[in-house]
Amino acid sequence: MAARYITISDTIINDIDKGLLLIDQRMPSLRQFTQLHDVSMTTANNCYQRLLDLGWLHAKPQIGYFITQPLNKQSTPVYPRFNVKISKPKISQSIDQGLRGPFYTAQLPAALLPQATLSRCLRRANQRAGADVFAYPDYQGDIGLRTALANHFSQRHFPLKADNLVITNGCIDAVRSAIEITTNPGDTIAVSSPCFSGLLDLLENMGRLVIEIPCYQAQLDLEQLEERLKSKRISACLFSANHINPQGFCLSNKQKQRIAELAAHYQVPVIEDDIYLELSYSNTTPLPIKYWDKSGWVLWCSSVSKTIAAGYRLGWCEPGRYFNDYLQLRNVQFFGVNNIVQHTVCEFINTGQYAKHLKKLTTTLASHARQYHSLLRELLPGNTKISVAEGGMVIWLQLDNMDSQAVLSEALKQGVPFRAGSEFTTLAYYQNCLRLNIGWPIVANAKDTPDKQAEALALSAKLVILCELINANVAVIPK
Ligand SMILES: Cc1ncc(COP(=O)(O)O)c(C=O)c1O
Repeated sequence: MAARYITISDTIINDIDKGLLLIDQRMPSLRQFTQLHDVSMTTANNCYQRLLDLGWLHAKPQIGYFITQPLNKQSTPVYPRFNVKISKPKISQSIDQGLRGPFYTAQLPAALLPQATLSRCLRRANQRAGADVFAYPDYQGDIGLRTALANHFSQRHFPLKADNLVITNGCIDAVRSAIEITTNPGDTIAVSSPCFSGLLDLLENMGRLVIEIPCYQAQLDLEQLEERLKSKRISACLFSANHINPQGFCLSNKQKQRIAELAAHYQVPVIEDDIYLELSYSNTTPLPIKYWDKSGWVLWCSSVSKTIAAGYRLGWCEPGRYFNDYLQLRNVQFFGVNNIVQHTVCEFINTGQYAKHLKKLTTTLASHARQYHSLLRELLPGNTKISVAEGGMVIWLQLDNMDSQAVLSEALKQGVPFRAGSEFTTLAYYQNCLRLNIGWPIVANAKDTPDKQAEALALSAKLVILCELINANVAVIPK
């Protein structure tokens, strides 16, 4: 017999389907729910959590739970399947233009960061570290921070050893060192397509070629990848597997395991950029490819840029069998990473604040995803395809006949930059796609300060302008 919370949540889903419960209707509080169904608080919690996970409820912090349409019932982008070939990345035009803005960079506004707690951690870290902060750092990274990170991830079913971690100046820096020690200029690196434009920019800058592996229906085309590995055309792979930027989905555990096996079998390193790992909307942290890496071919890279503060420039790498080379390169090039930032993040993790903050942040981001979805659905044509992310901080949308570069040119004049789809490839794909950051809220909470409410209102007005530009673009292009 199914557990009570499953039976009750199934009944609620049925009632929504039948129209007995309405979209946007407020659900009873948990306490009222226990009385209504004569169940314990645990059952009520489990029931709401299941409905949240399945996308039938969303939580408005400090207000309550509301019924929604699960996003996976709506239409999502279609990704091309193509035969792979080697290509040369080019620097994205937005780098030259120095673009920034709430829709543009995948970033959180300062208001969503635990500023006061971080300030306290910084003060305590400073006191605790004493004169140590003035000396050159341990070039592998502070042992306290490495231990805190190892414990944090081990508690999330991903065992890590502090001794195997190397602290870096952010994720892109960790990836850069990984590329440098595993490949040479002119080598070809496999990336998934579409690929975060910052990684393509990095590869261009380092003189590497790429081979884009199609990634559709949350699956990387591993058949084509293996063919190219077999023919020794690939010197390394550079993949993300969790809440991938820009699609927002995770590869299946089966695919992650297979990638780790392919790396070992063909003895080709896999650089794993796992920067969005912890931003799952469903309260469960997925596992990285590294989890299945038995012989050290995976170099696992991440950072606190998307979770704590991009400005801290703090990341790490678990370089597997490349540990000695990696450490030596870091030592020669960097002499270590800012001591006080390492101590601050260590304090933040060890006091349990990091886990607490992640929980709040992911609920907020899930709610942002809903806000953006519903406004975009309201304002854009019915055939617009919008990604349904499992986590992360971006939305990818696709619209037949849209020329997103042309939209971008107009959007720049109006001060609403975003990333055009063509920046996510070295090939001729994704011109009808664009990526939006959803870190900033476009709907304020009733309890927000007037300033915050005004900010959200101003941003939603900007999104309206952007949608008008998209609509105008789609209308002028002949079908
Ligand atoms: C996939 C991916 N990797 C790396 C980065 C940059 O990471 P960091 O700021 O930690 O260097 C980003 C930022 O948008 C990203 O989306």
